[in-house]
This record gives sequence, structure tokens and C-alpha cells, in this order.
Amino acid sequence: MNILFVASELFPYVKVGGLGDVMAALPRAIRAQGADARLLLPAYPALLSSVGIHGETAVFPDLMGGGPARILRADAPGLPLYLLDQPAFFHRPGGPYDHPQDLARRFAALCWAAAHLGRAGDSAGWQPSILHGHDWPAGLMPAYVAYGDGPRPATVLTIHNIAFQGRFPASMLEDLRLPNRSFTPEGVEFQGDINFLKAGLSLADRISTVSPTYAREIQADGGHGLESLLAKRNGTLRGILNGVDHGIWNPAKDPHLVSHYDLKHPSRRAANRPDFQARLGLHEDPDAPIFATVSRLDVLKGLDLVLENVDHLVARGAQLALLGQGDPLIETAFRQVAARYPGRVAAFIGYDEALAHKAFAACDVILVPSRQEPCGLTQLYAQGYGAIPLVRRTGGLADTVVGVSPETLENGTATGFQFGEANGWVLGEAINRALDLFHDPIAWRQVQRRGMMAEFGWEGPARAYIEMYASIPGILALPQSHPPSNFRLTIDD
Ligand code: ADP
Ligand code: GLC
Repeated sequence: MNILFVASELFPYVKVGGLGDVMAALPRAIRAQGADARLLLPAYPALLSSVGIHGETAVFPDLMGGGPARILRADAPGLPLYLLDQPAFFHRPGGPYDHPQDLARRFAALCWAAAHLGRAGDSAGWQPSILHGHDWPAGLMPAYVAYGDGPRPATVLTIHNIAFQGRFPASMLEDLRLPNRSFTPEGVEFQGDINFLKAGLSLADRISTVSPTYAREIQADGGHGLESLLAKRNGTLRGILNGVDHGIWNPAKDPHLVSHYDLKHPSRRAANRPDFQARLGLHEDPDAPIFATVSRLDVLKGLDLVLENVDHLVARGAQLALLGQGDPLIETAFRQVAARYPGRVAAFIGYDEALAHKAFAACDVILVPSRQEPCGLTQLYAQGYGAIPLVRRTGGLADTVVGVSPETLENGTATGFQFGEANGWVLGEAINRALDLFHDPIAWRQVQRRGMMAEFGWEGPARAYIEMYASIPGILALPQSHPPSNFRLTIDD
């Protein structure tokens, strides 16, 4: 089974959030099960300077008005890559979603390149039978496949966050090389616009998202306008939980920690605490419980609820650390509370991979109060590192944290704290429950140990993805031979 992933992020080269982590782990986990998964990405400078390049496999005089482009064959350790090298679109400073003036055209170019590889294969004769896109940047890939001619690969689209859909004016139809007949409710049209994510969700053979609870929520009232489409496609929609890459997230070997530890040597964890406190400018108080958040600063992450609880946390003797960047208003609000409580509240505004690892190894509670959370990875990393997650009961957070209650403490299944309604007072109550347990060291250690024992590897999820691919009718019937070299992807109305 040959699968080509199509995405816009790949840890450690280009990462904005969890998508980068998943793209680094999932195709490798699928390869470990014997299927040939590869990954197509834009040729960002950070990739071109770090991965091995093995020559080009396709050349385009112009793609989506961005000038000459080519597809390079490359590889990262253990993962074959294809890179869409189009300097006008991708050789620029900034993050993958900056430069709004050509956002639609450059991800359309990526989708076009994917459809080309899906139909023509690469110059070495490798041909994907499945194209598997991720999030809105890959949304037009199923459209180019569906509206193109000739034998076609199967298509899959995974939603990592339905809040980002890639909506652009209908006047771009021709610029994006979409035929007029695609502009219908069954195709790329949504409320009069072109909607990349919606296009993919309508046209892909299978669709999935990153947790079972989120799969239900987006069909009910959490679908950001796409609820009824998803409910209609219910039979092809799956919720498959993300995993943890234990090669990178392992406190026994993590190069970012000053002291390694594991279930057999839990006391060695404590030495990570003063290091983290010193780096963040928190008082090196050995007894204060440390609450932390490692997050993109976005309204859906619910951090306003944490802001409402800062006085409460400080009054109860806790410390609070934030690592995050994003919405300037949320950044300013955290800077202000940090200035109000020097040594007790700290805000690191920015992105720092090493500091994130240190946070999970040093803190007592990781707060994830998201209003919506498709899966969430920080609550998983926290558990493996002995920090106890406190989460809102939504999406993947509901699926991966067993809330503390008299019953779960009794039967030893509790791994964290949960709260329901998204308001500051309800979060405050959950914080109180966490602080009460913190002062009961035996119960605390039990919850901590249970979290460290939790199995969130990628093997099970990789198997679930392979089963989903195998459920597509005719997948094995697709031609595997190399098509003629003069092959062109043509779309005519
Ligand atoms: P999302 O993808 O919505 O941002 P996830 O929980 O799935 O949420 O993934 C977030 C990822 O980004 C995790 O790997 C987390 O450690 C990392 N991360 C978020 N903010 C920062 C930051 N400021 N510094 C370092 N890592 C961060
Ligand atoms: C998204 C979601 C997050 C998920 C990640 C990886 O960015 O917001 O919940 O864990 O993708 O799938």
C-alpha cells in the first residue's frame, strides 16, 4: 500500500502546532507497519537546508500564477519526502500561514502537485494509491483528483482543526484552476465562497479527525458551519486519536532535561524544577505547586479562563507559567499579569521547544482549558512526564484524561482533572480540586504514576489509519504501473 501524505508542517523543520508533531510521527508509524507512506510538503528554506535532496521528479512552467515550480525527491531520517519547490511562494521568511496575498494560490499549488503525483507517480516509478491530506491547506487535493481525467488514486482528508477552513472569494475559481462545475454545494462552494476544507470533506473517499469525541462534536454544534455536511458523510468519517512519539517525548532520555527520570526513579524529576523556575524568573520555591500552559494563544484554547483565575492561583500559593504565542491581545494580558506578580506568575511569549520539554518535566499541573480541542497533545506529553493535566471535557481532552473522582481514585484509573462548562468559576473549582489533591502526596503520586503508565503510542493509531485505507473500495485495483512520461493533469469544464 503506497500512501502520499500532503501537509504544511513537519517537526522539527516547520511547526506551528500539533500538526507538525503528527506529520513527523504518523507516516513513520505507518511505514513501521509495512506500508510505504511518504510526505509531500512545500519546499520551505528550513527543509531545503536540512534534508537530503535526490533530484527532481516533475517540473511545471507555472503553478497557480506563482511561476516555475518543480517537485523534488528528498528524505528526512526514516521518511521519504517530496518537496514542492516554488521560490515565489515558499522561499520567504515567516510562518507557513503568513503572506495572505497568495495563501490560497500557494496551497492550491501544493494540492495540484499532490494530484499530479497521485496520477503520474514519481520518476523512479513510485505511485501512491492513496493521497492523504491534512487540514485545509490540503483541502483542494481531493477536488483536483475528482475533477481530473483518467484513473485516479483514492483520497483521504483528516481534520486537525475545523476552525481553520481556508475560505476565499468565488472570483478565484479560475486562478485556482477549478472548473466551473466544481462550484456547487457538493463541490468546493460554501456560502458563496470557495472553501478548501469543505471541498476536501465533500469529495474525499474517506474523512477523519483526531479523536472520537471531536468526530461527534463537529457533526453536532462544533463544526463551524460544516455540521450538516459531516453528519451526511457520517459513514465515511472516523475519529482516530493521535499518539505520542516516545523517541522525542521520553523523560528518561530527553536531552532538554537537567535530570532524567522514569517510573522507577520518580524522585529524580524534582531536580528539573529549579532549572525551569530559574529560566522563567519564578521564585525557586520548592513547595509551591506549579501550574503551566504550553499553547498557541488562540481564543479556542480558553486561556481567558486561566486569566480569570490568576488571583485565585496566587492566593492559594501556586505559581503559574505560560509558554505561548499568537493572538497579541492574549499575549499582552499574560504579560500584564506576570508583571503584577513577579516571581509567582511568568509569561514566556514565544516558541521554544526546549522550554516546552522542561515545562512538562518541572510543573505539577498542565492546564488545557480549551473551548474546543480536536485532540490536543500537551495533555498527553504532560502525562508521560508526570505533570497532571487539568482539562476541559471536550474533544480529545475528554478521550485521553480520566478525571479524578472518589471512584477513579479508588479504582486507580484517574489521570487528571476535568471540568465541563467553559467559565472561569468552574475552572476555579477544578483548580481547587487539584490543589486539594496536591496536598495529599500519596493520592497525587498515584495519579501521576497512572499517567506515566498510560499508553499513547502511535502503533494503534497507525493500524487504524491502515484499516481506514483498506476500507476504500477498489483501492487495490488501482494501476501500480508507471504511466506515460508525457502525462498531464488536465481539468476542462
Ligand atoms: P495545537 O495543534 O492546537 O496547537 P496541540 O496540543 O495538538 O495543539 O499541539 C501543540 C504543540 O505545540 C505541542 O507539541 C506543544 O508542545 C507545542 N507548543 C505550543 N506552544 C508552544 C510554545 N510556545 N513553545 C514550544 N512548544 C509549543
Ligand atoms: C490541531 C488541533 C489539536 C491537535 C493537532 C494535531 O492543531 O488543534 O487539537 O492535537 O491538530 O492533530
